[in-house]
Amino acid sequence: MDEVLKLFPITTRRDPKGRMTIAGQSLRELVQQYGSPLYLYDGATLRSQLALLRKAFEAEYRGGFEITYAAKAYFSLEMAKRMASMGLGVDVVSLGELKIAGKAGFSPKRVHFHGNNKTVPELLFAMEWGISDIVVDNLSELVLLEFLASEKKKIINIWLRITPGVKVETHQYWQTGDIASKFGLPINDGQASEGIRFAQSSRWLKLRGLHTHVGSQVFDTQPYAEALRRLIGLAEQEEFILAELSPGGGLGVQYLLDDKMADAVDWVQTMSAALEHECGKRGWPLPKLLLEPGRWLVGQAGVAVYSVGAVKFSSDGMYIVAVDGGMADNPRPAMYQAHYVAALADRLPSGVLKRASLVGKYCESGDQLIPELKLPEVYRGELIAMPVAGAYQLSMSSNYNMASRPAVLWLEEGRAEVMQRRENPDERGWWVNDSAQD
Ligand code: LLP
Repeated sequence: MDEVLKLFPITTRRDPKGRMTIAGQSLRELVQQYGSPLYLYDGATLRSQLALLRKAFEAEYRGGFEITYAAKAYFSLEMAKRMASMGLGVDVVSLGELKIAGKAGFSPKRVHFHGNNKTVPELLFAMEWGISDIVVDNLSELVLLEFLASEKKKIINIWLRITPGVKVETHQYWQTGDIASKFGLPINDGQASEGIRFAQSSRWLKLRGLHTHVGSQVFDTQPYAEALRRLIGLAEQEEFILAELSPGGGLGVQYLLDDKMADAVDWVQTMSAALEHECGKRGWPLPKLLLEPGRWLVGQAGVAVYSVGAVKFSSDGMYIVAVDGGMADNPRPAMYQAHYVAALADRLPSGVLKRASLVGKYCESGDQLIPELKLPEVYRGELIAMPVAGAYQLSMSSNYNMASRPAVLWLEEGRAEVMQRRENPDERGWWVNDSAQD
C-alpha cells in the first residue's frame, strides 16, 4: 500500500504500473506537455476543503459567517478568479494582491486589506476602490488613514487588528498573537483601547469590527477561543458594539504521515461555544464571524513535480538526488526547516532503499528539499512528486540564480488549465537596463 498517497490530492491514483495520476491526468504526460518543474492544483481537493469548512459553520455556528481566502498562501489572477467564483472573500496584504483581487472580479465588499505597514499608495488604492474593510494595524496607520480620508472627504470602513497576548504552539516565525508581535494593537498596554476610542470619535473612519490572527500552522483550537474572549472583553470595556469579528486563519495541515490534520469542525465548534457563552452572558447577539484560512484551503490541493537530474554519492555515503527545482520555488525547508515527503511519480519504489538526500539545483548547501529520506536507485528524467505544495511555496518563490518560476496548472474533471505560464528567461523585462535594450 502506497501510504504516502494520503497526503496527495484526493483524486490522486496510481495505475497498475504505479504511474501517478491526479484528476485523471498522468503526471508524466503533463510534464511532457508543460515542462518541469510543474505545480499542480487539484480543483476537487480545494472544493472539498471549502465544503468541509462551510458545513462545519452551518452546523455549528448560529450567527452569520464568511470565509475569506488568505491570498498570501498562493495567488495569481487565475487562482483569484476561481476563488471569487466559489463565493469566497479575500484577504490581501499588498498593492499587487489588491490589484489581482480587483481584476479577478472580487466585490470590494469582500476584500480585507491587512498588513503592518501599508504604504500611502496602497491605502489610497484601497480607499478609492472602496474596499470593506481596511484592517488597521497600529496607531500610526490609524492617524495616517484618518488624514487621507479627511483629505479625500471619504468615509472609510475599518477593522482594528488586535494583539490579544495569546501564544500558540508553532514555528516561532508564525506566532503572531503574543505581546511581542510586530502585528496589531496590544490589549495589555492600552493601545487597543486607544485605537478603538480614536476610531469611534473619528468623523471619517467607521469602525465595524475587530480582528486578530494568533498564528499559522496551528492545531490546538483553544487559543482561538481565548483570543475571542479577550476581544469581546475589550469591546465591552470600550462600549463598542461588536457586529463583526475575525480570529484570522492559521489552521494547520498535515505535511508528514505522522502529522495530524487540524480539525475544521473542532475549530468552528470551539469558537462557536466561546462566542455563545461570552455573548450570551452579556445579552449580545452573535457577531458575524469571518475566517481567513490560507494553507488549510490550498495546501493539500497543490503538488510540486520535479525531474531527477544528477545523482551521486557523497564521500560519507549519502545518496544525493538532485532535481530541477529547489529553494527558488520552495524556500520553506531552507527558511523554516519545514519537513516534506516525496514519491516517485512513474513507479512504486522497489529494490533496496538507500539513505538519500533530495536536493535542489541552486547554489547553496541549504538547498535541500528533504535532507534525509529513503529512496531506491533513481535515474535521470524520473519524476518526483512532493505533496502539500499548495501553500507558501510559489507565493514565496524567488528568481534566485535567475531561475524561472515553474508553470502552474489547475486540474479538474480531466482538464488541465494553465494558471501561470512558466517564466521565460528570454522574455524577462526586469533585468534589462531601459537605456540599453537590445
Ligand atoms: N490572516 C492573516 C492576517 C495572516 O497573517 C495569515 C498568514 C492568514 C490569515 C493565513 O494563515 P494560514 O491559514 O495560511 O495559516 N510563510 C509561512 C506562513 C506565514 C503565514 C502568514 N500569515 C509558511 O510558509 O508556513
